[in-house]
Amino acid sequence: MKLCVALDLPSEKENLELVQKIKEHDVWLKVGLRAFIRDGYAFLAQLKAINPNFKIFLDLKLHDIPNTMADAAQEIAQFGVDMFNVHASAGKVAMREVMQRLQGCEKQPIVLAVTALTSFDETNFQAVYNQDIASKATQFAKDAFESGIHGVVCSAFESKAIKENTSQEFITLCPGIRPFGEESGDQKRVANVALAQQELVDFIVVGRPIYQSVEPSKTVKAILENI
Ligand code: C5P
Repeated sequence: MKLCVALDLPSEKENLELVQKIKEHDVWLKVGLRAFIRDGYAFLAQLKAINPNFKIFLDLKLHDIPNTMADAAQEIAQFGVDMFNVHASAGKVAMREVMQRLQGCEKQPIVLAVTALTSFDETNFQAVYNQDIASKATQFAKDAFESGIHGVVCSAFESKAIKENTSQEFITLCPGIRPFGEESGDQKRVANVALAQQELVDFIVVGRPIYQSVEPSKTVKAILENI
């Protein structure tokens, strides 16, 4: 299991200060929409400059027509990003086109699909997808798998079932982790490291428990010792 640190601080300066503090650790860094829209590829280059061994997960959740998604995926791959994601609800044609386009790229990033956004409750999810969350999320995971996508973003509670419905090699990346049962903030269903291990999770995403801790490096070290 690998640790992915969410760089969700409000400014580039604060994100870079955090990364400096944890630079000796073998971790992935998650860059989301806010940081990327504000700080762009130059920010990703700065992360690699701090430690070239850092792996970067660009969490932009692409969702558009197939050709536009494939164009964006190609740009992301050409920059050398290690992992990015798309929305499974963009459909199998779009996911296949993304994966086909990446075959021509020198360096192939890992591509994940988002199944159901956790911000949905059942009522609002039904209004959009006309189906319950659990069965639609499983369907999206199967669609992604059949389209050649490498894995999904999902809740740690669903990781094992998704692998059973697809393949044990199908990657699961799970946010909503409170490594040692810390304060959950706005996360509703939180899992700790032990549960993530039982559920065969491949990547845990941890934000606040690291960047709000007094000594982020010590927190990262403690998590890495437990995974
Ligand atoms: O601070 P915390 O550990 O809760 O951060 C989790 C990270 O994972 C945040 O960047 C959040 O946007 C992201 N995320 C999530 N739930 C999802 C998808 C992404 O918490 N379903």
